[in-house]
Amino acid sequence: MIQETDSIAYSEEDAEQSETSVASPPSTGSQAKVITVAGGKGGIGKTMICASLSMALAQAGLRVTLVDADLGGANLHTVLGMYMPAKTLHDFIQRRVKTLDEVTMPTPIEGLKLVCGAPGVVGLANIQHWEKLKMIRHLRKLSADYVVVDIGAGMSLNEIDLFNSGDITIVVANPEPTSIQECYNFLKVAIFRRLRREFSDSFTVQELLDRCKDPSHANDRRLLTEIGDEIMAADRRDGVLFFKTLNAFAPKLILNRVFDYQETRDGLALQIATQDLLQIKLDYWGYMSYDPSIPQVVRAARPHDILAPESLNRQRFLSMIRKYLLGENIRYQRPGARMILPLLYHQKKNDPNWVSRICSLQCQLWGNCPLQEGGMPCRMPEEEFNEKLGRLGNLKTQTLAA
Ligand SMILES: Nc1ncnc2c1ncn2[C@@H]1O[C@H](COP(=O)(O)OP(=O)(O)O)[C@@H](O)[C@H]1O
Ligand SMILES: [Mg+2]
Repeated sequence: MIQETDSIAYSEEDAEQSETSVASPPSTGSQAKVITVAGGKGGIGKTMICASLSMALAQAGLRVTLVDADLGGANLHTVLGMYMPAKTLHDFIQRRVKTLDEVTMPTPIEGLKLVCGAPGVVGLANIQHWEKLKMIRHLRKLSADYVVVDIGAGMSLNEIDLFNSGDITIVVANPEPTSIQECYNFLKVAIFRRLRREFSDSFTVQELLDRCKDPSHANDRRLLTEIGDEIMAADRRDGVLFFKTLNAFAPKLILNRVFDYQETRDGLALQIATQDLLQIKLDYWGYMSYDPSIPQVVRAARPHDILAPESLNRQRFLSMIRKYLLGENIRYQRPGARMILPLLYHQKKNDPNWVSRICSLQCQLWGNCPLQEGGMPCRMPEEEFNEKLGRLGNLKTQTLAA
């Protein structure tokens, strides 16, 4: 059950910080960019994705600090081949040090530092509200280009607020129904939490959100955008803020433990569900294959081998960060645009002559396409597209004839 009210127990040091700083705006200037990684369910590979993403960023020459914020089950240090951390997040929370930089430790990976969680510390998972706010504030102050935050399983306010505080928010899921379902629920709780915080002083909006938040929508079957329309009709400023908040919530999805490429369709299903039922844009960033050597790699404390030099997983993470974080192939999109259409061709309702190709899993070129942007208009020039399709056709005919 989600507890919606926090006990706000600010310390003197934190008193000057307003509560709204939880979901801070994207960082600017020289502040570290914070990437938060969650997924609701335990054991789906959030920690493995955090480690892999951070390693890929460090290998690309960026300064990265990983923060193990799994308050109930810290284990990132083990994945990185470090035992018995000398300093942990607990020292910061207990105010034995003033900054997170003071509890940052070097790792065997060049360019990658770690703020270890505190494994087995009784009560750490129940940190106070002001302690959580302080931690969130200090994440951006770390001396790094990127701070990657590994968030524990669950959907309590600790996990949700930590997740929502990221400049970039990533959800991890496995291609299996329970994980997909829990990931959807996590996103739902996160968007409602964000909207509730934004409208904490508006009784009318809080009441509207309350009515449509239960899973069965027994009291209110309207979608969030319909609620937004009602708010807009009553108060334009509130309405604009509502839609702005909804559009700004743009989590990314990484699938993990994928055995077969076909399984990535589960990611597509999750995207469509979040788009249609929650009106949330969920960008699909890619996937990590199941790698049977991972348990042995962790046991033998060989973190470099998690993304072994020639492995496909390494290539996937490198291209993921190049495409989405380092600005190559950057794309701009209309806020609120539908991200995934299970269509290859798209026709405008009022203009039957206007047809565009939409990037989709159903495209025959999808598997090898360097421009993969599911749901967006295809960026490949028409001629090149037809030529590649033609070549593929010839190849198929040749294979059949052989
Ligand atoms: N891509 C993968 N291939 C094989 N095993 C994996 C993969 N990702 C994670 N694992 C294994 O799954 C287990 C759970 O992963 P972990 O990252 O600790 O999950 P979480 O942080 O979500 O609880 C670990 O034993 C880990 O070694
Ligand atoms: Mg974990």
